[in-house]
Order: sequence, then structure tokens, then C-alpha cells
Amino acid sequence: HSKFKILGIETSCDDTAAAVVDSDGTIHGEAHYSQQETHLDLGGINPTVAKELHKKHIKSVVDKALANANCTVDDLHAIAVTMKPGLALSLWVGMTYGKHLSALYNKPFIPIHHMEAHALTSRLVYKDLEFPFLVLLVSGGHCLLSYAKSSTEFYTLGSQLDDAPGEALDKVARNLKLRNLETFRNMSGGKAIEQAALTGNPYGFEIHSLVLSNKRNCDFSFSGIKNAAFRKIKATEEQFKVKASGVVPNYADICASFQYILTQHICHRVQRALEFLEMENLIPDPACRKLVISGGVASNTFLYESLSKVCDHYNYTTLRPSPALCTDNGVMIAWNGVELYRTNSSRIVHDPAQLHTVD
Ligand code: KG4
Ligand code: ZN
Repeated sequence: HSKFKILGIETSCDDTAAAVVDSDGTIHGEAHYSQQETHLDLGGINPTVAKELHKKHIKSVVDKALANANCTVDDLHAIAVTMKPGLALSLWVGMTYGKHLSALYNKPFIPIHHMEAHALTSRLVYKDLEFPFLVLLVSGGHCLLSYAKSSTEFYTLGSQLDDAPGEALDKVARNLKLRNLETFRNMSGGKAIEQAALTGNPYGFEIHSLVLSNKRNCDFSFSGIKNAAFRKIKATEEQFKVKASGVVPNYADICASFQYILTQHICHRVQRALEFLEMENLIPDPACRKLVISGGVASNTFLYESLSKVCDHYNYTTLRPSPALCTDNGVMIAWNGVELYRTNSSRIVHDPAQLHTVD
């Protein structure tokens, strides 16, 4: 293939996003509609509401991405769409719209795995990042540690047994009622906790330590530390006789302690994975000793810096795409489309009559 352009469409959760990316990794145009505020007001993601909002915005988001890229569907070589994993109702909107465009303009359709797309985004940002590498995805829905062998081969070393880290952060932030403070009103729970933690004491609270330390694998568990934080919050609210809508005065210490314990758990599991890769000699080339961190929680700088320390010890380099590329976006889907189109992957549906075979 010479130069080609791919449209990417993402609707797996609460972001309606689209982008046009070419074979060189140049981002020609993108557009994004975030439902975050609606869901924050509702106290969590409501799948039915998410679906309606995707339906309402999908066409304008795709049109805007194309307009920003100064191109039409005719100029595209293929359409890449997130198929899984995610909220079924949300995924359905992007998939249906993508298939509709693919059939209407007779363009190849590329089904994309959302988590693989997160993992591969790093190759758009770091052009010299070669396989294999280790990748950690930490988001509102997932916690996944994988060995990326090629653009279609990912081996899971560990995943979450209960809550995802972003989910735990969001729930703790909600339990603390951080949104009732002006500073945090429009922030995601994770971001609010990171901000609040800046002025807090991470050793202020004993919150359950060394989760799963007796489990000899790389799985994650966040519900234990989340519940421990809930108990701390409740006890502190009683201690300070805080009103129903009030925030405890020492919220910064709680945030710092929770962020610290969550980070410590992730670092322990990553360390195990590094030891395992070492033992099995899975990354023989020293140039490939790289850990890529992605997903919304990767924008947490405390986590990033802590993981960097662990990696330094094992002579690994830590990489993370910019926050805009770490959270859900259209670029990562379009770029995964580029990676698959370039290798003429068998996943691509060339014949519109076969579109019903992918779901
Ligand atoms: O990847 P993402 O945008 O969406 C999916 O979950 O797929 O991740 C969103 C999650 C939310 O739980 C949010 O609280 C968390 O990422 N997050 C953060 C930060 N910014 C966003 N967590 C920790 N620190 C941050 N700075
Ligand atoms: Zn995601």
C-alpha cells in the first residue's frame, strides 16, 4: 500500500469520538463529544442515556472529524470501528453507523478491539516502538497487563478481578463528595483525587495494604482498598459530624493515602510481570525493554512516576501517550485501523455484503 487514510469511530463507553489518521500516523482531523458531565450529574454511567447521547452526536462528530481533516468519506481507504469491549448499547451505535458508511461508500470495514487500540496508540506516538513490549492499561473499565507481541497478538499477564482502578477512584471521589467543592466540580473522580492528593499526606491513613500479595500472578483487585477507603470516610464523617452534603476537612489526606495504596498495588503487580518476562526471556532485545502505560488512569502523574521508578530498577523505559491519547478517542481507533490495513489483516471486511458477519 502507498499512502492511505482511515476513519476511526469510538463509542464504547461515554465518549463519542472520530478521527482521520493516515498511514504515516499523521492525524488529519478529529472530533469528540464527551458525555462526562451528564454522567457525573447522574452519579455514574447510565447505559441507556449513553446510547441516546451517542445516537444524538455520532453523525455530527464524524462529519466534524472529516471536515477538520478536509476530506470526505470518498477520500478514505477504510473505516475502523470499536466493536468490543464496552457497553453493548454504546458500542452498537458506533458499529451501526460505521457499517452504514462502509456499505454506502463501499469502503472496507475494520473491526477494532478497544483495548488493543489503547495498547497500539503508543506506536503512533513513539515511531520507534517495536514489538514485543509490555503494556499496562488502566482505565475506568479495565486494568490489564499484557505482553504485546504484534499488532494482533496480545497475551494477558494479569487483569482486574473486581473494580477497575478508575472505577475505584471515581467511587471514592463520589463517596467523599469531592464534587461539592468548586475546585473539583468538573473533574473526573481520578483527576479530582490526584489534585486533592497534592496537598495531602499519603501516610495519613492505614488503608489495607499489599492486596493479593499471596497470589502468584499479576491480577489486580481494587475493591478491597476501595471499601477500606469507604470505611475511613464514614468514620471520619462521624468524627467531624459532617453534614450530608459536606466534605470531611481532611479529604486531601484520604485522597493521598488512597492514591498511594492504589499505586503501590499496581507497582507490585507490574514488578511481578517484569520478573516473569525476565525469567522467561520474553524480551531478549534490550531495546525492547519498554513499559507502555495507557488508559484514562495513566494520566495520573503519581502513578506514572512510581511505575517509572520500578521500571528503572529493571532497566525498562516507561512510556505514556499524552493524556488526550490515553483517554478514549477516535485517533487510537483510526491508528489501529492503519496497523491492520497495512498488514492486510484478515479481520478486514472488504465486501459490504459480509458486514453482518462481524458483530
Ligand atoms: O480510558 P478512560 O477515558 O475511559 C475508560 O474507562 O475507558 O478512563 C476514564 C477513567 C476515569 O475513571 C477517570 O476517573 C480516570 O480515568 N482518570 C484518572 C485521571 N484522569 C482520568 N485517574 C487518575 N488520575 C487522573 N489524573
Ligand atoms: Zn478506554
